[in-house]
Amino acid sequence: MRRLDQLLSSLGYCSRREARDWVADGRITVRGEPADDIGQKVLPADVRIDGEPPDHPDGLLLLLHKPVGLVCSHEAREGPSVYDLLPERWRHRNPAVTSIGRLDKETSGLLLLTDQTALVHRLTSPRHKVPKVYRATVDRDLPPTLVPLFASGTLQLDGEDQPCAPAELKLLSAREAELTLTEGRYHQVRRMFAAAGPSLASTVLTLHRTQFGDLALGDLPAGQWRELPTDYFG
Ligand code: URA
Repeated sequence: MRRLDQLLSSLGYCSRREARDWVADGRITVRGEPADDIGQKVLPADVRIDGEPPDHPDGLLLLLHKPVGLVCSHEAREGPSVYDLLPERWRHRNPAVTSIGRLDKETSGLLLLTDQTALVHRLTSPRHKVPKVYRATVDRDLPPTLVPLFASGTLQLDGEDQPCAPAELKLLSAREAELTLTEGRYHQVRRMFAAAGPSLASTVLTLHRTQFGDLALGDLPAGQWRELPTDYFG
C-alpha cells in the first residue's frame, strides 16, 4: 500500500502538492469511488487516473537502441539525451529512469534504462561481470596480434592502476572487429584500441553495442525501445 500522493508523484503524474488539486478536481478514483484524501493508502491496482490505470506502477525496464548523437545524462547542459526519447511522464518518475551504465555520445546500440536503483547498482558492479559485445570500426588495419593482447589481461589503459580484464576480440574484416568486455570503464573500447602500443594502436571511428548479457538488439530500429519484465534479471 502506498500513499496516494506519493504514488502519483513517483509515477511522474504530478508533484505531491499538485496531487491535492488532482484529487479535488475529481481526476482520481479508488475502487471506483472519487478519492478525497491524498494521504490515503492505496493499492495501485485499485486506482484510476482520468479513468486510466496507473502507468507502470511496478517499475520500468527498457531495452533502447541508442542512436549516435545523444548523451546518457540528465544534465540539460550536456545536450540532447536518451531521456528525451521517452514519454514526458516517464521523465518525471521518482526514482528517475536512468541508464544501466553509459554509452558515449558517439556510440550507438543497446542501452538498458530502468527506475530500479538496485538493478543499476547490481548490473554495473565490477563484481557482476556482465559480458557486453561491441562492434568497432577503426582507422587502420587491425593486426592479428591484438587478439592475444586483448585476451591477456595485461593491457594497461592510460591513467589506470589495474590492467584490463581479459577481453575477447574477433576480427571481422581488415578494419572491423567485435569485442566482448566484462567490465565497463570510461570510454573503455576506444581507450583499449588506443592503448595497444605504437605500432598496433588505432582510433575507433564507429562503435556500436550489440549485446548486454544475453540480451541482443535484434532489428530494433535506432531511437526505439522495447519493454522487458522488471524481474528479467531476477
Ligand atoms: N567503450 C567506449 O569507448 N565507449 C562506449 O560508449 C562504451 C564502451
